[in-house]
Amino acid sequence: MASGTGTILESLIGAGIPLALVMVDRHCRAEEVAQAAGIECYPLIRADFSPSFDREGYSKLLAEKLGEYGIELVVMAGFGTILGASAHDAFPGRILNTHPALLPAFKGWHAVRDALDAGVKVTGCTVHVATLEVDEGLILAQEAVPVLEGDDESSLHERIKAVERRLYPQTVLHVVERLQNGEPLA
Ligand code: GRF
Repeated sequence: MASGTGTILESLIGAGIPLALVMVDRHCRAEEVAQAAGIECYPLIRADFSPSFDREGYSKLLAEKLGEYGIELVVMAGFGTILGASAHDAFPGRILNTHPALLPAFKGWHAVRDALDAGVKVTGCTVHVATLEVDEGLILAQEAVPVLEGDDESSLHERIKAVERRLYPQTVLHVVERLQNGEPLA
């Protein structure tokens, strides 16, 4: 599930994770990434970004679509829509996310900017199970990334993403293995 440049998606594909479907909530480069890799892409385009967005309706459609494709594990890779209860109920504990900060610090959309504004010397990334509460849920893996003198949001985010592109596929593979063996995620 992606909404952006799709570089995390590329890293998942590169690691050989068997992706049955890529879903996007807007037209974005991730669609091209999926196409280039020969993976079916389903654009569940979100037309409404206003406060009255029907999050539950969207999440219900999304869960139905994933169900049709026989999806067992949902991997968010920069997906820009917060999912409602219908999605979490359909995939309990089976939605993973990567967040560009060391949770529980700097939750939310501006994690990299917030870390910079706070003046921390170290931030990083977190792979976790997504829950209804944004950026909560079981932490599966974390790695620290230094904030360097002169960093701006984009340079710091890029350094974090370089780590995410290694840590996320590695963690997803680990989760897949545990699920296949009938073991709990952690
Ligand atoms: C990553 O930093 C991820 O943690 C965040 O969105 C970014 C996605 O990057 N949720 P990309 O679009 O895959 O390059």
